[in-house]
Amino acid sequence: MKSIIILGSTGSIGTNTLDIVRRFPDEFRVVGLTAGSNIDKLETQIRQFTPQAVAVSTESSAALLRERCADLSVEIMAGDEGITQVASALDAELVISAIVGAAGLVPTLSAIRSGKHIALANKEPMVMAGKLMQDEARKHGVKIFPVDSEHSAIFQSLEGHRIEDVRRLILTASGGALWTLSQEQLLTVTPERALQHPNWKMGAKITIDSATLMNKGLEVVEARWLFNILASNIDVLVHRESIIHSLVEYKDRSMIAQLGLPDMRTPISYAMRYPARMALDLPSLDLTEIGQLTFSKPDHDRFPCLNLGYESLRVGGTMPAIMNAANEIAVEAFLNHGLRFIEIAHVIRSTMDAHTPQDITCLDDTLEADRWAREKAGSLVHALPH
Ligand SMILES: NC(=O)c1ccc[n+]([C@@H]2O[C@H](COP(=O)([O-])OP(=O)(O)OC[C@H]3O[C@@H](n4cnc5c(N)ncnc54)[C@H](OP(=O)(O)O)[C@@H]3O)[C@@H](O)[C@H]2O)c1
Repeated sequence: MKSIIILGSTGSIGTNTLDIVRRFPDEFRVVGLTAGSNIDKLETQIRQFTPQAVAVSTESSAALLRERCADLSVEIMAGDEGITQVASALDAELVISAIVGAAGLVPTLSAIRSGKHIALANKEPMVMAGKLMQDEARKHGVKIFPVDSEHSAIFQSLEGHRIEDVRRLILTASGGALWTLSQEQLLTVTPERALQHPNWKMGAKITIDSATLMNKGLEVVEARWLFNILASNIDVLVHRESIIHSLVEYKDRSMIAQLGLPDMRTPISYAMRYPARMALDLPSLDLTEIGQLTFSKPDHDRFPCLNLGYESLRVGGTMPAIMNAANEIAVEAFLNHGLRFIEIAHVIRSTMDAHTPQDITCLDDTLEADRWAREKAGSLVHALPH
């Protein structure tokens, strides 16, 4: 039986992971869970999966949860320190890293440093500090298994092949909720409209990232570090149906792809039981029913965020962390009706332009860049006319 810790257990990836655990109770034992503030959901999860320890973002949420779980023998911790403690101190084989955003960096890195393998959904830490995370993983003999459907597809398409035979990685993109809208229509898009993703049911932040194509920009950076491949060998292909999850082209021009209906339980389960595949009771992909698959090039005029991902890699050092932090601030402001959809890219671009890139030699360099970019992006949002 594999013991696991889930960081971000109350989110979309977290609940899908627990659905797999529920279906295979003899395969996994949940020893730790963490959440932000959703203690209702976390309490239900604690009662069902009986972890040894859990953590939530604030002391007040932890105090409330302790009261509610007084009849249980679960240790309840609080704050960033508590979450990091759950990620690193408990005895477990695998940590499912599924917090959203930069908040996952320190706990995920601590889990790596404590020698636990990682199933990585939380892409932002890999964007902020990909080299550092990979160096630490190597040092501690830790494997990082991708959960993102595109990176899982590439991981699967690379199996049994030599990395030196790869010509390019091709990440597919659904195009998100706003792909068919004109530049004029994008001017007045509301958060509610941008949250209507055609294929995937995900957390709010990644759904907006999909609509701006920043998600694909982040994924290009994630792929660069996960597969140790240069950005010039990573392409993006718009594929609205989200059936081909990504492809690898080899030197002989042969392409290998992974296909399936869009359901995150497939890549999550692969990361959890690699190299075994779990017998998931899900609908099969019926290609005759699908009929045809479509492909097109990304539109960089309407969706400039994808190029920012490439640019951040070209500049290197702290720039991907700057881009990531500015995006988090801009997306949050958009969700709170504090800026327009098209201004998300403007805030990220202006924050990147104002930054003098530095090398990243340690975690503190990344955290300092993240802090600087949040402040800068926040002031840019504030200065926008409303
Ligand atoms: N959803 C998908 O299908 C999908 C696919 C590929 C990759 N990913 C990546 O996986 C990650 C999670 O995405 P998601 O869609 O599952 O997000 P989500 O539904 O918003 O869930 C986020 C989780 O993180 C917790 N959290 C939020 N802020 C936190 C903080 N400051 N400190 C500690 N915990 C915090 C949340 O707790 P509360 O519930 O208490 O707020 C929740 O458990 C993201 O990086 C995303 O890009 C997601």
